Amino acid sequence: MDEHYIPVDIQLLQPGVEKPFQLYIHLGDRFVPYTQGNGFTEETRQRLFREGIRTLHIREEEKNDLRDYMNRNLQALLADPSLTQQEKSSIVYDTCIYQLEKLWQAPDAKSIEDSKEIFRRTVDHVISSNRDAIRDMILMISHDTSIYTHSVNVGLLGTNLVREIYRNADKDLHEIGYAMFLHDIGKTRIHHRILNKPGRLSPEEWEIMKLHPEKGYELLSKEGHLTEEAAVTTLEHHERCNGGGYPKGLQGSQIDELGKICNLVDSYDALLADRVYKPALSPYQALKIMKEEMRDQFDQQMFKEFLYMLY
Ligand SMILES: [Fe+2]
Ligand SMILES: [Fe+2]
Repeated sequence: MDEHYIPVDIQLLQPGVEKPFQLYIHLGDRFVPYTQGNGFTEETRQRLFREGIRTLHIREEEKNDLRDYMNRNLQALLADPSLTQQEKSSIVYDTCIYQLEKLWQAPDAKSIEDSKEIFRRTVDHVISSNRDAIRDMILMISHDTSIYTHSVNVGLLGTNLVREIYRNADKDLHEIGYAMFLHDIGKTRIHHRILNKPGRLSPEEWEIMKLHPEKGYELLSKEGHLTEEAAVTTLEHHERCNGGGYPKGLQGSQIDELGKICNLVDSYDALLADRVYKPALSPYQALKIMKEEMRDQFDQQMFKEFLYMLY
């Protein structure tokens, strides 16, 4: 059988904790089982570092085991004093992406509940990060075509932008983070042929795609996980201040502030993403377009705060 392997950053592996998967080392063109007498210890990790090895591998079919392991160990990793804030950001990021992938496979009440825990720890990490650490985190995030990466980016950028805008105001960032991470959950109810179509959508397909805000609202409501904040992010993240958005074409003050913030970071991340029909833009190019061509879509004060957060 043709086996596939996926890389695992060795920073994600907690020394001394038993792993429910086999690790492999990539030697030449082969993947060789990586086993050590005492398991994966801190000494093992340091030795790999000294040899310039940052990643080991697992078989792709054991991906779910890796995911469960990372979720279980997130708390321990975030409390590990030997890891820098930047390394912790990277761990949080990868763990969220894994969790979103799992949630996408089965978006039911149980998966949503499990994800809440991961989002909560992620938001705790954001809260514990100072401005410099947040900028490092923003530089670290990738903008690929995956809906998981996009959801995590919107979760991180959106939560932090709310924190910037409302500074000392009494906002529940955990609830806001949860709502931001799940803003596109309705896309799990859109047929994968439309969702993953490599080119531009036809007008008919586009009409179906535009149903995802309401489908997200319905899904969370049906699974008993619709919060006040998630109702806003799912339903209003494609509404625009100038009334040109969907599903309702709301304008200005008709759109909840959280909906506007979600639309702002969602648009930014979409511009940075690589698509078949458009190249990925740099942050500078994306912000220039947002400022010049998409100006009426956004609340200008929020846009200023967003720039301040990025630079
Ligand atoms: Fe969306
Ligand atoms: Fe989105």
